[in-house]
Amino acid sequence: MNRAIPLTESIHWVGANDRETELFENLWPLPHGVSYNAYLIEDQRTALVDAVKGPFLSEFLDRVRERLHGGRRLDYLIINHMEPDHSGSLRYLLHLFPDLILVGNAKTMDLLKGFYNITDRTHVIQDGDGLDLGSRRLEFAFTPMVHWPETMMTFDSRDRVLFSGDAFGGFGATDLGLFDDEIDQVFFEDEILRYFSNIVGRYSPMVLKAIDKVSRWDIGIVASTHGPIWRRDPHRVIDLYARWSRHETDPSVVLAYASMYGNTYRQVEHLARALTEAKVPLKIHNLSRSHASFVIRDIWRARGLVLACPTYNMGLFPLTDNLVRMLENKQLKNRFLALLGSYGWAGGAMKTLTQFAEKSHWQLIDPVVEAKCAPAAADFENCRRLAAAITARLGI
Ligand SMILES: Cc1cc2nc3c(=O)[nH]c(=O)nc-3n(C[C@H](O)[C@H](O)[C@H](O)COP(=O)(O)O)c2cc1C
Ligand SMILES: [Fe+2]
Ligand SMILES: [Fe+2]
Repeated sequence: MNRAIPLTESIHWVGANDRETELFENLWPLPHGVSYNAYLIEDQRTALVDAVKGPFLSEFLDRVRERLHGGRRLDYLIINHMEPDHSGSLRYLLHLFPDLILVGNAKTMDLLKGFYNITDRTHVIQDGDGLDLGSRRLEFAFTPMVHWPETMMTFDSRDRVLFSGDAFGGFGATDLGLFDDEIDQVFFEDEILRYFSNIVGRYSPMVLKAIDKVSRWDIGIVASTHGPIWRRDPHRVIDLYARWSRHETDPSVVLAYASMYGNTYRQVEHLARALTEAKVPLKIHNLSRSHASFVIRDIWRARGLVLACPTYNMGLFPLTDNLVRMLENKQLKNRFLALLGSYGWAGGAMKTLTQFAEKSHWQLIDPVVEAKCAPAAADFENCRRLAAAITARLGI
């Protein structure tokens, strides 16, 4: 039974949970699913805030119809974000609700035309405008590039609900708990960070601007488009997003390695042992097993990254290459990098990784450790020296 779930007396969650889609954006694994959150506000006039991905229209409509019984009309759809995971069902909504008006900004309208060829039944608002629903006023704040150009946030000034779009969202279906007082916070923090770091993190400066902009509102509930709704402690998720956007890190290290035949791995194991003995908090990922989204999540928390990679066709092992390109795209700051590898004849991997450190303005930790074929005693000794340098850099 697809029931609407109340946030307040007059605002309901009418979204959908998706445990079918394998990859979000056909790229990011969803082992615990994802939710597309949409909200219905019932006042003298009715307004939906965002909608759902196309294939989830029926669940969403069940919930909307449960509330709008007796032929009650739907007046507005506020479009905080035009990405198809929220707008995919738009054309059908216009058919089903003949009075419906789409509310957005000029950039929303451009994308509405581009994706759906919709040019009428729209209401264009400016930054700072409001919309009167009867007993309450919705207020709009443009938050461009979090993470699309048209993104904005909507605040219900009566019930003090911030509809924040993708900002403050996360992976993980909300059948595991819709509200912050119902969820396993540790589990969801991981999934929220995985969403932040992979989807939004590149736009950290814009996230900080958006947080600054909405701080003028007295927020009682944070209701984003993915993941839990924050009603017990709404500022917790805002603070998490702010911390991650400022690139604040823990004194810890991620060791992301690839190894075809174990020559690199044996050095990884040696380095990991030395780091553990020095009490350095450590996460290890085998890039042949961990999807980059999980590795990037962990790197976002950690001050240091060790990339361990054999030379492959004169350059990087392909999965390390993939991770490095993704990291370049995410524009992480304030990290240090340590390098480890193995080569058979001429090498090449360490050169590419050194260039990556320079390009990213990450500090490269000495020594770069690289074995010719199988590691020898001198290489293991270098692993110990590297562990000592990392430990010193972390101030542990
Ligand atoms: C498919 C393949 C391509 C390789 N390409 C190079 C290369 O271009 N230059 C080089 O010096 N070694 C190359 N090697 C040798 C490896 O870098 C070397 O065997 C290394 O010890 C492998 O480390 P691993 O056991 O951690 O995978 C290649 C090995 C393989 C299997
Ligand atoms: Fe989005
Ligand atoms: Fe989204």
